[in-house]
Amino acid sequence: VVDRAGTVRGWNRWATTIFGWTDKEAMGRNFADLIIPARHRKLATARLVQLAQEPGEGEFVSRVDVTACRADGSEFPVELGVVRTEADDGDMLLLGFARDVTAERRAMRELETAQEQLRRSEELYRYVVELGSFIPWIADEDGSLLTIGQRWTEWTGTPVEAGLGEGWVGFVHPDDAPEVDATWQRAVRSGDRLEIDYRLRFAGGDYRWCRARTTKRTDVVAGAASWYGTLEDVHEHRLADEASRRAQAELSHVSRLSAMGAMASVIAHDLNQPLTAVAHYVRGCKQLLPTLAGDNRDAIAEAMEDADRGIVRAGDIVRRMREFVQRGTVECQAEDLAELVEEACRLALIDAPMRGVTHRLSANARCTVMVDRVQIQQVVVNLLRNAVEALKDQPRREIRISIGQEKPGYCEVAICDTGRGIPAEAAERMFDPFFTTRKDGMGIGLSISRMIIEAHGGTIWNDSKAGQGTTIRFTLPIASGHESPASS
Ligand SMILES: Nc1ncnc2c1ncn2[C@@H]1O[C@H](COP(=O)(O)OP(=O)(O)OP(=O)(O)O)[C@@H](O)[C@H]1O
Ligand SMILES: [Mg+2]
Repeated sequence: VVDRAGTVRGWNRWATTIFGWTDKEAMGRNFADLIIPARHRKLATARLVQLAQEPGEGEFVSRVDVTACRADGSEFPVELGVVRTEADDGDMLLLGFARDVTAERRAMRELETAQEQLRRSEELYRYVVELGSFIPWIADEDGSLLTIGQRWTEWTGTPVEAGLGEGWVGFVHPDDAPEVDATWQRAVRSGDRLEIDYRLRFAGGDYRWCRARTTKRTDVVAGAASWYGTLEDVHEHRLADEASRRAQAELSHVSRLSAMGAMASVIAHDLNQPLTAVAHYVRGCKQLLPTLAGDNRDAIAEAMEDADRGIVRAGDIVRRMREFVQRGTVECQAEDLAELVEEACRLALIDAPMRGVTHRLSANARCTVMVDRVQIQQVVVNLLRNAVEALKDQPRREIRISIGQEKPGYCEVAICDTGRGIPAEAAERMFDPFFTTRKDGMGIGLSISRMIIEAHGGTIWNDSKAGQGTTIRFTLPIASGHESPASS
């Protein structure tokens, strides 16, 4: 309690507790000297005088937050309320109520800091969700969805409510639904974290691969939210993964094939010696034959003749195979196309008689082309092997190969078969790398053929007519100086 001059007239024990002065020490002294830091004293005294003079309506005149000081000089925040009252002698007194708000202020500051941190963290999560391609969701203990992020609507074109509860299950691809449901139920029962990929129906009806991840919060009471999860769009990743797996399988197949090629050249090389030896023996026998007497001599001579021809043919096959497999640099030379194609036929159609496939080669013009012999033979071999494949189990098994000059400056080779033909949708893609309809096919035969033909300045195309087997044609420029009068 102070009078209008600021002199302390009353001082209770709480004042002693707060400010550290005993009532004896305080009584009769100026309040400002006791509880206000020196730098604010003038102002505090002036304010008190003013308060005492103000006519003021009620008794309560002021409440302010001020910095006070204790007897030991330490400063602290107080909330100060002032009420006007009347002394027994009629003079006016001011009652001051001081409340130490140090702890309160500290708590307030901590709360503010915590709120700020919360706001920042919320902001961060909001950004993360907006930046990422996923939807956060929450489900209750029984696995029923309580909340889904707004992006659900963007993805599925349906309101968020459509996905709540068990609603989301209706958006899962029918083929994935049983596994997703079983896995989810298992997780709900065991409480184990879960991660599963499935296709989700997006707006417009297309399915996209999504990955659901969730983990259970164990600190929640029964009935409250307990599964926190995300649903992420991983469609592009999945496609890329699948493509890379397919590419890997194809690559390993290619490397097996190239290992085979290397082996073939070794086999061809090793066969050469025994074949040469057999040829010598056969010739030796033929020379000895006239010295023999007997009825069987002519028959043996004939058999020897056949054996000799067979050996020459075998040697030929082996030599051609070696040339075909062992490759050095690309060499373009003027080649007779008919001769080149004929040789390729012998190589590619070795097993034709066994398969009941007949072939006919016709050339209606003499064509000299500037090519890498082995590469063009590779093309012809690829086309003929495709034809042989297509003739499997067909009633008519014929291949027709024709060479001619359809367009000035170019030779054209056509390979026609009476096989099963190419369906329209396959025809569009047959020259694409890795397109195949065969179980053991690589799908590279035609794409390599096209590469080779185009590198030689020609074109290759499918010229089939529906229901008439398959016809593939390619052209090659005629070697300069070899143009026939008809084509120039
Ligand atoms: N003569 C043909 N008759 C019918 N379909 C054919 C014929 N030639 C090619 N095709 C179709 O084109 C596809 C691609 O042929 P391509 O030669 O590129 O590959 P592939 O024969 O399947 O395998 P590989 O790489 O072993 O040659 C074949 O799988 C087949 O479906
Ligand atoms: Mg092929």
